[in-house]
Amino acid sequence: MSYFSQRALNIQPTGVRKMFDMAGDDVISFGLGEPDFQPPPIAIEAFHQAMLDGKNKYTTTAGLPSLRKKIAEDWESYQSGMDENNVCITMSGTNALLNVFMTTVDPGKNVLIPEPYFPLYGPDVGLCGGEDRYYPCKFENEFVPSISDLENLVDQNTVAILYNFPSNPTGGTLNAKQRDDLLEFAKKHDLWIISDEVYDKITFDEEHVSFLGCDYDKIIIVGSFSKTYCMTGWRIGYLLSTNLEAMKQLIKIQYYITACSNDAMQHAVLKTMEEAGDFPAMVSEKFKIRRDLIVRRLNAIEGVECHSPKGAIYVFPKVTVPGMNSEELALELLKDGVLCSPGTAFGKSGEGHLRFAYTIGEEDISKGMDILESTLNRLRNEA
Ligand SMILES: Cc1ncc(COP(=O)(O)O)c(C=O)c1O
Repeated sequence: MSYFSQRALNIQPTGVRKMFDMAGDDVISFGLGEPDFQPPPIAIEAFHQAMLDGKNKYTTTAGLPSLRKKIAEDWESYQSGMDENNVCITMSGTNALLNVFMTTVDPGKNVLIPEPYFPLYGPDVGLCGGEDRYYPCKFENEFVPSISDLENLVDQNTVAILYNFPSNPTGGTLNAKQRDDLLEFAKKHDLWIISDEVYDKITFDEEHVSFLGCDYDKIIIVGSFSKTYCMTGWRIGYLLSTNLEAMKQLIKIQYYITACSNDAMQHAVLKTMEEAGDFPAMVSEKFKIRRDLIVRRLNAIEGVECHSPKGAIYVFPKVTVPGMNSEELALELLKDGVLCSPGTAFGKSGEGHLRFAYTIGEEDISKGMDILESTLNRLRNEA
């Protein structure tokens, strides 16, 4: 009989992928959080050119110093004085997250994680032998946690708290006061703040509020180019911290995960930042138009209630049909040609919600909303 580790046997596929794998090609897909735009042309040209120029080798573990320096400069409005020593390039935000948990979590320790959540956090903590403890981000509070809920969960074995704003799946964001309260909580309990800010440049109406630049030396930022530069398939992200001891530990661990990131790609991303630095803002403008459309359409449907998120690429409306749970509802929608994710793919408290990624054109968003409306009417009449 084949032997597999408990680690492998225990871990489960995510609910987002489950629905996606069941969907045919002809559905209107609000399923995966993947921008439909291509990266800027300069990125593709520079990638090709870098390979022609022989950039096909290992780089240093932390990545090309020039790219790391550029990333540090990119965050300068939040925190001045950083340089390449404050950045480690990773092969995606996903890689960065595993790295940061491997660096901060031991068996017997626990990490506070938002719920509804991006589905990698908890399993990643579990892979490190730690306990994932979930704090609620409630609809009533625009998906921002309350300090009293956090106080109820923290104990002497809590080593870190993960914050994710703008959030996947809720689109929730913070204002400066809320950020400061969350900062004070972490400081009070001497926790690492792991701040997943991969949607930092996809914000609407208000500027991004970062944990970087706060007066606390236990902050690690998780970054990615996947969404902001529409490079999900390239797999490039990074870790950033003003704490150089943390950087040293993170870089050590990175060696054992991927040794380093892709050489030509790092050159291409540097060129892209230099020459197409306005690309994320352009993409954000387009997402904002879609956000306005989907929120307006959702709120016009009976039994649906939706916030207007100020960031990321998702809405997480409350959708109620008597006698049906969110997974059953998502399956009914799939039968009618719309793929979305049941709220429970992001934790139990997602029950009663659906997640729509507005990563398709406006015409398809409108068609998808027409289908949602007629499916909900049909289900209510049948109930
Ligand atoms: C909140 C959040 N963090 C991290 C990631 C990982 O991004 P990537 O691995 O593509 O860089 C994602 C991807 O969907 C995400 O939504």
